[in-house]
Amino acid sequence: MLISDKKIEDYCLSKSTVPSKICDELFEYTQNNVEHSEMLIGPMVGSTLGFIIQSIKAKRILEVGSFTGYSALFMAERLSNGGEVITLDINPETTKVGQEFWNKSPHGKKIKLILGPALESFAKLKGPFDFVLIDADKGNYLNYFIKALELLSPNGVIALDNTLWSGRVADLNEKDPDTVALREVANFIKSKADLSSVLLPIRDGILLVQRRD
Ligand SMILES: C[S@@+](CC[C@H](N)C(=O)[O-])C[C@H]1O[C@@H](n2cnc3c(N)ncnc32)[C@H](O)[C@@H]1O
Repeated sequence: MLISDKKIEDYCLSKSTVPSKICDELFEYTQNNVEHSEMLIGPMVGSTLGFIIQSIKAKRILEVGSFTGYSALFMAERLSNGGEVITLDINPETTKVGQEFWNKSPHGKKIKLILGPALESFAKLKGPFDFVLIDADKGNYLNYFIKALELLSPNGVIALDNTLWSGRVADLNEKDPDTVALREVANFIKSKADLSSVLLPIRDGILLVQRRD
């Protein structure tokens, strides 16, 4: 789902630091060969998150929801050498595509995949992480957020994708479980006085969260 006008987004991308050519190839391969390619986060979100990763000088990144490895790769590209991206997914087939493309990139060696249900994988993780991207099953977003916050470094940032859910979250008549879950996590974050947040209307909505003093 693209909330902004395509022409405007293309112009924004033309003036932004964008994911690499290998990322473009991975994006195109996924679109042509993998079911549900609409799940890809896309270059505009990639550029936005890449900017944040670079500005906070992130060293360790956690991703919940790898799919074909597009977002893991663009995040790895913006990490300094010695940094790492740990990415969690349940699907061995789609992540195999990711691994093939990561192997073609000089940044691929920064990425480590953990296969399995993400809530179980969280139990194996040691923090701190400087940046966390939550982009998996919507029903678990609140669980993922709470666990991510426990592992977050003091100045770390958590990004939650699809937080506009094609605009459905803003229509209170929409009561399907994913919409309700996405509203719930956004309400939880907003209710916490020790958190600062901004929901950006980029693509399908990206909610950024950081601790405040
Ligand atoms: C929206 S896609 C991720 C897209 C990816 N971040 C990108 O833009 O390149 C969501 C992914 O979450 C994974 N997923 C769904 N439920 C999961 C679970 N319980 N544990 C781990 N991964 C899960 C799916 O297999 C799918 O690959």
